[in-house]
Amino acid sequence: MLVLKKGGCCMNAGIIGMGRYVPEKIVKNIDFEKTLDTTDEWIRSRTGIEARHFATEDENTSHMAIQATEKAIENAGITPDQIGLIVVATVTPDRAFPSVACQLTEHLGIQCAAMDVSAACSGFIYGLVTAKQFIEMNSYEYVLVVGVEKLSKITDWNDRNTAILFGDGACAAIVSKVSQGRGILSFELGADGSGGKHLLLNDENHIAMNGREVFKFAVRQMGESAISVLEKAGLQKEDCDFLIPHQANIRIMEAARERLDLPVEKMSKTVHKYGNTSAASIGISLVEELENGKIKDDDVLVLVGFGGGLTWGAVTIRWGK
Ligand code: COA
Repeated sequence: MLVLKKGGCCMNAGIIGMGRYVPEKIVKNIDFEKTLDTTDEWIRSRTGIEARHFATEDENTSHMAIQATEKAIENAGITPDQIGLIVVATVTPDRAFPSVACQLTEHLGIQCAAMDVSAACSGFIYGLVTAKQFIEMNSYEYVLVVGVEKLSKITDWNDRNTAILFGDGACAAIVSKVSQGRGILSFELGADGSGGKHLLLNDENHIAMNGREVFKFAVRQMGESAISVLEKAGLQKEDCDFLIPHQANIRIMEAARERLDLPVEKMSKTVHKYGNTSAASIGISLVEELENGKIKDDDVLVLVGFGGGLTWGAVTIRWGK
């Protein structure tokens, strides 16, 4: 007879605690009207964005990562020394090395495995899936996954195509084994470098983007990945209780929601408040929905994102410890 117990072979990894952080400074669409040939009306109607938060000059990516991490550790009810691996998803580390993950070990006063992953806006999903592997192989008991960006430091303030889209922020999750049937049930990760030219960091260290090409890719990929992870989990779109899409553009998010035939209230929307915070966006949204009481134990969630690379990623999670 197969006996399943905590720590046994068939337990899934899942999120047991989360935190988020957004800087205080808010910049509204109307503020861009002073410096760019744009309008609040255009930005709202084409993107769904109304405002975004920007870090101050001395508030680094690592500072935001620390804020979100401390909340996640407290929320999970663990101590820092229990963490075996730190994965930080970011394309805006304070510097190339030491990594933000290494900076976190110093702040937490611990020594453990630590690395940054570069998968742009899909980074938090890449981090969760990495954590899942190590947990389910019994390599580590607790993995800290952080998604954090200070996109304001790589934004070209003279480019109306991109300057209005992005914001700064951080999310953090503690991943560990959860009860049978819960946790990360399935995943999909992907990358296609042939589309890399459509969204990149140019030689001036600024985000450069072909918005129309990225839009077309995102609309197709978000829907396909969402359906695919549900199927991999042995579920159908009717089984999805809540969709947490990457918060890039409300029109892209709506296309994914419609593909799943979900009502509006079953999709997380924070893009209007924070803009696109890249690797932080999915985690920030998830924390907000938890705080709003929208997610209950045993709900089936689909988290799905896309980004520079081009990359994409999705997971199905049955929520709960
Ligand atoms: N204000 C006013 N006009 C703007 C503008 C702005 N901030 N940004 C672009 N425009 C103009 C364009 O220059 C273009 O003018 P033209 O027709 O004279 O060339 C016009 O608006 C329409 O451009 P288009 O690209 O067709 O607009 P759109 O409806 O596709 O919206 C984006 C532009 C960028 C909002 C949209 O393409 C998008 O969201 N793409 C995906 C971007 C994304 O998610 N990136 C992050 C990936 S993680």
